[in-house]
Amino acid sequence: MRRSRSRNIQPLLREVTLSKNDLVAPLFVDENLDSPRPIDSMPGQFRYPVNGIATVVSGLWDKGVRAVLLFGIPKTKDKEARSAYDPDGVVQQAVRRIKAEVREMVVITDVCACEYTDHGHCGIVGETRGGMDLLNDPSLKLMDRIAISHAESGADIVAPSCMLDGVVGSIRAALDNEGLEEVLIMAYSTKFASALYGPFREAADSGFSFGDRTTYQVHPGNSREAILESQMDADEGADILMVKPAGFYLDILAEIGSIGLPVAAYQVSGEYSMIKAAAANGWLGEKETVMESLTCMKRAGADLIITYFAADVAGWLDEKQ
Ligand code: PBG
Ligand code: ZN
Repeated sequence: MRRSRSRNIQPLLREVTLSKNDLVAPLFVDENLDSPRPIDSMPGQFRYPVNGIATVVSGLWDKGVRAVLLFGIPKTKDKEARSAYDPDGVVQQAVRRIKAEVREMVVITDVCACEYTDHGHCGIVGETRGGMDLLNDPSLKLMDRIAISHAESGADIVAPSCMLDGVVGSIRAALDNEGLEEVLIMAYSTKFASALYGPFREAADSGFSFGDRTTYQVHPGNSREAILESQMDADEGADILMVKPAGFYLDILAEIGSIGLPVAAYQVSGEYSMIKAAAANGWLGEKETVMESLTCMKRAGADLIITYFAADVAGWLDEKQ
């Protein structure tokens, strides 16, 4: 085997290589801010004000990043997440500003209600047989309205992350009905109930005031259920499937590839913060660890990778040439 690993032969035989085209950069836009505010639990990440977001995105474009995923932090929250589908809401404004400045950037929006509800759950809550919880069907209409308002503002791809049953089919029909059939749906199709979202809940101010998300997200131990979730979203018309978190769930990622749709891997906030913390202590090399983690996602079958390291990776890929 070592013949094939000699320094000049090795690159020729490499099976997967990371490229800038794989990268999606998540960004937090906060309607309450006038200047960027650092996110303590995610060193190097910021919440950006609406009026600063286009500049940030244009900087990413210059580095070679071609897609962003937007999360919004609104001025007001209520039980019904009304600010989530406001035509002048935080994400809607951000999308318009980005598209006006960097038209070709692929803009993906997270379609969920947890940043917009006062209780912090991903949709409408009410009494169920198991107590107060996220209500499925009453929340679908809300997701349709959010998706339509994002798409009307110019989003190229909407990404429902609420794990409601039937949400992909519902949004597809709603978009088509509004003449928005060109807009893609990237389903958070297999989303595990993970401890690794901890830092995100500070970043997006989306922690919940009661209960948890285990009644809508998949238990980490369940692989058949995980595959079925993605298959159902594919059947409902998803254009892109997603596994989230990525690093702990590469077996699932590999299996979902056989459905036949493009697969996204989401390296989530906790994966980011773990690497950052270890690197800050000098325990791990940041660049090497990040590049390895993303290469392994590609090896497992990811076509695109959502990572808070996107800007750094674009820079590191340049260094290598
Ligand atoms: C909202 C949402 C979450 C993430 C993406 N969309 C949080 C959650 O489900 O609690 C997590 C992303 C990350 O941790 O980086 N539903
Ligand atoms: Zn949510």
